Amino acid sequence: MERKREHWGNKLGFILAAAGSAVGLGNIWKFPYITGENGGAAFIFIYLICILVIGLPVLIAEILLGRNSQRGPISTFKHLAKKHRNLWVTVGGLFFITGLVILSYYNVIAGWSMGYIVESIAGKISSFQSSADAGVHFNSLVSNPGWIISWQLLFVVLGGFVVYFGVRNGIEKIAKFLMPIFFIILLFLVLWGVSLEGADKGLTFLLKPDWSTVSFKTVLMALGHAFFTLSVGMGVLLTYGSYLKKDENIFFSGIMIALLDTFIALLAGLAIFTSVFAMGFDPAGGPGLVFNVLPAVFSQMPGGNVFSTLFFILLSIAALTSTISILEMLVSTLMDEFKMKRHSSVVLLSGSIFILGIPSALSFGEFGSFRIFGLNWFDMMDYLSANVLLPLGGMLVAIFIGWYISKQEIIGELFHGVRDTQFNRKTSNVWYFLVKFIAPVLILLVFLSAIGVL
Ligand code: PFF
Repeated sequence: MERKREHWGNKLGFILAAAGSAVGLGNIWKFPYITGENGGAAFIFIYLICILVIGLPVLIAEILLGRNSQRGPISTFKHLAKKHRNLWVTVGGLFFITGLVILSYYNVIAGWSMGYIVESIAGKISSFQSSADAGVHFNSLVSNPGWIISWQLLFVVLGGFVVYFGVRNGIEKIAKFLMPIFFIILLFLVLWGVSLEGADKGLTFLLKPDWSTVSFKTVLMALGHAFFTLSVGMGVLLTYGSYLKKDENIFFSGIMIALLDTFIALLAGLAIFTSVFAMGFDPAGGPGLVFNVLPAVFSQMPGGNVFSTLFFILLSIAALTSTISILEMLVSTLMDEFKMKRHSSVVLLSGSIFILGIPSALSFGEFGSFRIFGLNWFDMMDYLSANVLLPLGGMLVAIFIGWYISKQEIIGELFHGVRDTQFNRKTSNVWYFLVKFIAPVLILLVFLSAIGVL
């Protein structure tokens, strides 16, 4: 039975919105720099395995839970948990907190990115002599509270504006409009990157594994990033799934979303590393890679200011379609749980997210000396969400599906909208096995080894 709830206009709308959630700063800002720091191709290989064996199965599980309950995360657990209901409601609460944590710092980087569009148009991002110069410029901007907080605020308002209009008129419309633009810009940048002289060194870096840098920490990073990049582990895809009609093929949609996300991360890596290597820069530039190494690269390229303007538009689009998905999860939780109206939820949450993000915004200036385990506030939020909260959330979703709901019910839900063929039955059994046994155990092992227990 479908509950009275807003639904996606069509299948494409859902896939683009969900792919828009998955494709974000994770693909363009984070994937290249953690790949750069963790040995290039070796890291990519482990990351792809994490996506296939853990990320994709849990992604499908999340969409399935939402479609089945037609509710936001907390209400889904309340509705579906037959045992330990309070525990599962707490898990829904954990998702809500994870959403707040991610949005708090995510909007800050998104704000830098928008600020960099303006800087690029003004020609400032393509006139550096070296990456040190670009770094000085970057540091002067991000340590300026006025600059950083204004851009952060603008981005929060932009995301709130889209979600204010709801699922079909806000999120779906903007995804259908922005995702094709995003794709065209990305393809253009890839072609530009690979046509540079010396681009082949970047290709080698992406294709030739260096296993000497791989450790359990690397595996944890790859696993954490698989969750982060697919938007899995905090109920966002569960929420998007709750707006799906019963006749949609969840399996197909899940595979499309994961494929698009992976493909786009690889293309972004290609665009970035071909340019970085062609211009002779260091690929291990850390979180600043796209903000202080790339501008130095742009400065040496023919047409660098066009490239840089397009690049930061690309980054901002990616960030926007992701922030709105997290905000929508938070909004749907308030609407379902507290019967709040969409409009007041958006205003309340956007205001809170802006305030919660201020310590992250200030982490590159005065507040930067405040450290927990050697990390500044911003890095702490990033580490905590990607490497702890999301894998934990993903593990709990897998446990919920595998051990708290009957297999019959789960497979029954999966087969609404899927043709009942032998092949599909077999594939769904493999998926169920991965979710029930493999995902929880592997995530646990990676956790234990990363904290030194194994
Ligand atoms: N997947 C997004 C990215 O790669 O940037 C980030 C993200 C969005 C993480 C939504 C988690 C989430 F629920």
